[in-house]
Amino acid sequence: MLHSMARVNQLLDHEDYICYIEKIDNLEKERRFCKHGFAHGLSVARISYAYLLEKGDVSLSKEAIYAAALLHDIGRWVEYQTGEDHAEASARLALPLLEACNFCPEDIGIILGGIREHRRHHDDNLTLLGEVLANADDWSRDCRYCSAQTLCHKFKPAMKQVVY
Ligand SMILES: [Fe+2]
Ligand SMILES: [Fe+2]
Repeated sequence: MLHSMARVNQLLDHEDYICYIEKIDNLEKERRFCKHGFAHGLSVARISYAYLLEKGDVSLSKEAIYAAALLHDIGRWVEYQTGEDHAEASARLALPLLEACNFCPEDIGIILGGIREHRRHHDDNLTLLGEVLANADDWSRDCRYCSAQTLCHKFKPAMKQVVY
C-alpha cells in the first residue's frame, strides 16, 4: 500500500523550507564533511522509515517520520550565524511549517520532540522518534569513499562498514 505523502510534499514546496535549504547549501558550499541540505534530510527519512519497518514498529506515521527527518537540521544556518544549537533552532523553525502543512497537534508535538532530541545519542530517555533520528543521522554518513575521513572527528573505521 502506498501511503499519502501529500503533507510532506507540501512541506518540501513551502517557501520557507526552500529558503532554509538554500541558506544551508550556500553556507556549506566549501564544507568537506557531510552536508545538511535536502539530500541529507531525505537520507535520514528513508533510513528512519526502513529501520522502523524492519523493527515492525508502526506507531509513527510515514508522514511524521519523513517530516521530522526532513526538518531535523533545518536550523543549521542559524547555528552557523548565531551559535545557537541547531536542534533547538530546527524545532523552532519547524513548528510554523508543520502547522501550515496541516499536521495535527499530536504529531507536531512528537515531531518537534524528535528534532530536539536528535543530537542526544547518549540520553537514556529519548522518545522513539528522537532515538531513530539520532541513529539514522549516523547511518546516513556514507564514509566509505569520503575524502575527508582523516580530518573528520565523527569518522570511525567501523562506519565504513555501515550500509543502510
Ligand atoms: Fe543535526
Ligand atoms: Fe543530521
